[in-house]
Amino acid sequence: MNEFPVGFVWGAGAASYQVEGGAYEGGRGTTVWDVMCWTPGKIWDGHTGEVGCDHYHRWREDVQIMKQIGLQAYRFSIAWTRILPSGQGKTNAEGIGFYDRLVDALLEAGIEPWVTLFHWDYPYELFCKGGWLSPDSPKWFGDYAAVVADALSDRVTKWMTLNEPPCFIGLGLQSGDHAPGLKLGFSEVLRAAHNTLLGHGLAVQALRERCKKKPMIGMAMCGRVTAPVSEDRADVEAARSNMFDEFGWDVWNYALWTDPIFFGRYHENAIRLYGNAMPRVTDNDMKIIAQPLDFYGMNIYSCGFVKAGKSGRPEHVALPVGYGMTTMEWPVTPEALYWGPRFAWERYRKPIVITENGMSNTDWIALDGGVHDPQRIDFLTRYLKEYRRAIEGGVQAIGYFQWSIMDNFEWAHGYKRRFGLVYVDYPSGRRILKDSARWYRDVIRSNGAGIG
Ligand code: FCB
Repeated sequence: MNEFPVGFVWGAGAASYQVEGGAYEGGRGTTVWDVMCWTPGKIWDGHTGEVGCDHYHRWREDVQIMKQIGLQAYRFSIAWTRILPSGQGKTNAEGIGFYDRLVDALLEAGIEPWVTLFHWDYPYELFCKGGWLSPDSPKWFGDYAAVVADALSDRVTKWMTLNEPPCFIGLGLQSGDHAPGLKLGFSEVLRAAHNTLLGHGLAVQALRERCKKKPMIGMAMCGRVTAPVSEDRADVEAARSNMFDEFGWDVWNYALWTDPIFFGRYHENAIRLYGNAMPRVTDNDMKIIAQPLDFYGMNIYSCGFVKAGKSGRPEHVALPVGYGMTTMEWPVTPEALYWGPRFAWERYRKPIVITENGMSNTDWIALDGGVHDPQRIDFLTRYLKEYRRAIEGGVQAIGYFQWSIMDNFEWAHGYKRRFGLVYVDYPSGRRILKDSARWYRDVIRSNGAGIG
């Protein structure tokens, strides 16, 4: 079998703050990422998302490019403060209008919109009221979800609540590398994480209650994917256990987030390790968090390796010296797209969607005017083969979203990192299809058989 399953969805993604620009237009309210970019020394070379890829103005052209590539789906996020400039209260018709037109244009081009409600551009006014630490924060997010559902759910049926809570809590509130740039103590980090989960639950409830068309709802999760060094049973169990059962004083274990969502309880190892640092959790909280979902969205770029150690515990295995790296210095580990989906499917039994996968590369415009990125084609081929192997092995997986449709503002790295299928010449705004975009078009046309 070379093809992926019938009905498998091929897409690409982007996020509001990374591509839109138009930061001060259309009544958009300030976000924590605006403030982060105004803070000297926080973003590489002082870059900001103020202009981004100017998608806020060039969206028509961008939809045509997606059509040219043959995308079946486009995953994008809504900027919360375009809809609700203060994060709550008064809605902004101009902001809603932007997404209205984008959704219409996508549907007209035969591309299905997959909407992420929150991809990190948190309303600054709500941050000043406590942000995710505030006991009101779950409700703020649930109310925002209801407004978006009312505006778009007559046409949008695919929804993701949150993008990568481990990142916006772990990097945003614990290490301070991402907005809002805080370095909180661990009990506060856990409290914010808990509120995030509650917000997710309330948003799912709001979508289920208000969507005009039956919604398919998930989230886009990330974490530490662990692969075994061999297929020996002991190594496989060591990797599984490392991925879900080993906790540190950080938020990168998938189970910290998705055990509450799918099982309605925190992992016992987390409870034991964190002890009194854990937030006070009520049964009602867990009911709200554990709303049934339709798919498990995973953003996967790489993995670590373990083997069964002598003591019976997983032991980390270092990569050989000189191992292949992307320009993010993330190792090229295609196995991540086999073991990540497989372990998540075996644990949670929810259909998997790879909501992000891709690489940053040293792309530039060649003398012949093209952008040649054989490394990206090789990378994506290797990863997709592993994903297909997982599916052949029985994992139920229903989609794949390459990250990203175009080069964009890569958070603290600014525009230095290029992840796109489409090259963006920032000074002019010109878009150029990379070789990988043409390759991906053939992959989509052949429902994956094109990867060989
Ligand atoms: C993920 C983010 C996405 C992008 C990729 C490279 O963590 O969700 O916005 O930055 O990494």
